[in-house]
Amino acid sequence: MPTLGVNIDHVATVRQARHTTEPDPVWAAAMAELGGADQITVHLREDRRHIQDRDVRVLRQTVNVRLNMECACLDEMLKISCDLKPDQVCLVPEKREEITTEGGLDVMANHSRVSDSIKRLHDSGIVVSLFIDPDKHQIARAKELDADAIELHTGIYAATRGIEAIQQQIRILTESCEFGIEQGLRVHAGHGLTYTNVLPVARIVGMEELNIGHSIVSRAIFVGFQQAVREMKQICKLVD
Ligand code: PXP
Repeated sequence: MPTLGVNIDHVATVRQARHTTEPDPVWAAAMAELGGADQITVHLREDRRHIQDRDVRVLRQTVNVRLNMECACLDEMLKISCDLKPDQVCLVPEKREEITTEGGLDVMANHSRVSDSIKRLHDSGIVVSLFIDPDKHQIARAKELDADAIELHTGIYAATRGIEAIQQQIRILTESCEFGIEQGLRVHAGHGLTYTNVLPVARIVGMEELNIGHSIVSRAIFVGFQQAVREMKQICKLVD
């Protein structure tokens, strides 16, 4: 069964809609832990559209499970990460105009920037994951750059319609997971995963971690955060 990382960014999105103090992502993290989250995931974006510096600082002190911080390969973010020392940093691409992280990090094109970022994080004792597309060239390069893990971008899978096309996307994710493990990488997945599409990804042999945000936060509006996380965790447990 993969571990469940609960991404709480969109709790902060609601707060930032009014620039007030509620809802507090720190509370959401506590509720997520009570619901069975194995990890809390936050993305500190350069534009601070949702998670703020204060959030990551307080979460570092209050989260009892693993803290996974997503960030771009920017000097400012690397400094914050090395200072804060989350359990894991997931390096992601970031475009100012995007609504959410649209594609994986291109580790071929951004080879030296990614490599330097990994070195800096490793020097601070932080485990590094790279958010990449399920593509063998990207996976092989992630290994060359000395990443510890890869997070396979499941956005295309999540957006695909039609049984055969969906099965094809699962094959791509499965082969990417196998290839990543062969390379000696730990394999994670995330983006666009929901209560209805998560199970085939959770069932991929060797898949160690799923990071899920939007769907859990959306459900939490109706059933509460703890319950929303508990339900997602129950689906992940169906793998066993
Ligand atoms: N993993 C990564 C690397 C992401 O950037 C995101 C989106 O912030 C997620 C997982 C979660 O995606 P979603 O909110 O669609 O579940």
